[in-house]
Amino acid sequence: MALEILKIVNLNKSFGRVKAASDINLTLQEGVLTSIIGPNGAGKSTLINMLSGSLPADTGRVFFYETDITRLPVHQRVQLGLCRSFQLVNIFPEMTVLDNLLLPTLAVNKRTRRLFRALRNETGAHREVAQILDRIGLKEEADTVASALSHGDQRVLEVGVALAAKPRLLFLDEPTAGMNPVERVRILENIRRLSEKKETTFVIVEHDMDIVFSLSDRVIVLHHGEVIADGTTEEVKNDPKVREVYLGQEVAV
Ligand SMILES: Nc1ncnc2c1ncn2[C@@H]1O[C@H](COP(=O)(O)OP(=O)(O)OP(=O)(O)O)[C@@H](O)[C@H]1O
Ligand SMILES: [Mg+2]
Repeated sequence: MALEILKIVNLNKSFGRVKAASDINLTLQEGVLTSIIGPNGAGKSTLINMLSGSLPADTGRVFFYETDITRLPVHQRVQLGLCRSFQLVNIFPEMTVLDNLLLPTLAVNKRTRRLFRALRNETGAHREVAQILDRIGLKEEADTVASALSHGDQRVLEVGVALAAKPRLLFLDEPTAGMNPVERVRILENIRRLSEKKETTFVIVEHDMDIVFSLSDRVIVLHHGEVIADGTTEEVKNDPKVREVYLGQEVAV
């Protein structure tokens, strides 16, 4: 049985009369690639925002491993290893791919009080960056200025920047947004491979059902702020409530 990485207990959030999160109870396991899906306005972003710390919950609790993180600010969650990437590209366009990755790598070394060692001997940081470049498949582009990358590769780099912070749990908000099909397949294969290394647990918010069902170990479906289904891809695909919510849209069997 995999270790519990996140425990969400009775989480609630309302915006005026809109219930964006309604008594959400979930436990996420280490190494299980989990997707969160649901129609527009279902509460996916609200949930991610509450879990990553940018939005306070009205009531309820969140535990990261054994630690109650309900009231921790974003930076303290990041220090613990709970990170997110944003839907908008969040890289420095004028810097090279390598420097974009070096920056967070040095920052994280500072965090772990290894900055001076890292500065005296940057080979450690460079080795870490080389490993990330290898993992995300951008080795050949190390010296390319980020703005010269294709949109898809910029998104891939963004995932790399998030990985440089050595997260134990990483929320990816629509990692394939704006990508062409070839780029989509590449980033998804990368995420799948990274997930199998078990160093980082991935939780993805994604609209594309084909992607969700081909990638995930577990799928959580939100609708009107409630969890209406939660299980393996097969279980969720065949769930009558999910079919009802997605009526008219393809839920491939
Ligand atoms: N800051 C806010 N103020 C007021 N209402 C909000 C706010 N954020 C979200 N909502 C409302 O809460 C509900 C859930 O929104 P949320 O953005 O979490 O949905 P979502 O599942 O991420 O949708 P999408 O797929 O369109 O991104 C919606 O009805 C939305 O209008
Ligand atoms: Mg959203």
